[in-house]
Amino acid sequence: MEKKELLCEGKAKRLFSTEDPDLAILEFKDDTTAFDGSKKAEIAGKGELNCSISTILMDYLESYHVPTHFVKRLSPTEQIVKVVDTIPIEVVMRNIATGSLVKRLPFEDGKQLTYPIFELSLKNDELGDPLINEYHAYALDLCTQEDIRIMFRMTAKINAILRSFFERRGLILVDFKLEFGRHKNELMLTDEISPDSCRIWDKKTRKKLDKDRFRFDMGGMEQAYQEVLDRIGN
Ligand code: TMP
Ligand code: ASP
Repeated sequence: MEKKELLCEGKAKRLFSTEDPDLAILEFKDDTTAFDGSKKAEIAGKGELNCSISTILMDYLESYHVPTHFVKRLSPTEQIVKVVDTIPIEVVMRNIATGSLVKRLPFEDGKQLTYPIFELSLKNDELGDPLINEYHAYALDLCTQEDIRIMFRMTAKINAILRSFFERRGLILVDFKLEFGRHKNELMLTDEISPDSCRIWDKKTRKKLDKDRFRFDMGGMEQAYQEVLDRIGN
């Protein structure tokens, strides 16, 4: 399968059409951005690490009958994925309070949440991906009530599956962001699941093994991503 036209380019990935109108090629870039693109760098090897990690996690979710756009890995930095109509919403789920949550609300940083928190954001860089609720989503015609119900149910299931997957490998799934799209009328998980889109901490030391290392200039980002891959591979 070969890349034809560039369909869209995001901050960390490119999507290409193929000879099959139902399938696309998703290419993971080394480009790394934070804070809506205001902070940028190229981190050699990051694309391959995220492609590897996302392949493992998407495959694992498929084994639990979570529908995803992932079809197969094509090369170190490329996956074959289903072509979807993207729902322009980012769904965040949080198990531990940190990040933007502790800036907005009086939660203690690092505290285990009694109930996981769902959040929705509008996928819109110019507006800084603002937080919305489901009524904004309906009023903006982003999706239906049924879509939101399915996205919440799938996100809760993904959280349960991945939390215990990481836990067994000495890792804590702190929070994560998911995106969804529709392929032939089926709502499915799209985008990636990687240390760019999740917060992952070491269970014993609570060392951050995710993009916070880049966001907050902590260094050692490639080593952290490699450590996640080493722990979840095989
Ligand atoms: P936040 O605490 O900054 O809102 O981030 C919550 C989770 O969402 C965290 O795992 C990182 C992820 N995330 C993205 O994948 N993309 C984004 O643009 C942002 C802001 C967060
Ligand atoms: N993904 C967003 C950006 O690039 C924000 C973030 O992950 O912090 O800019």
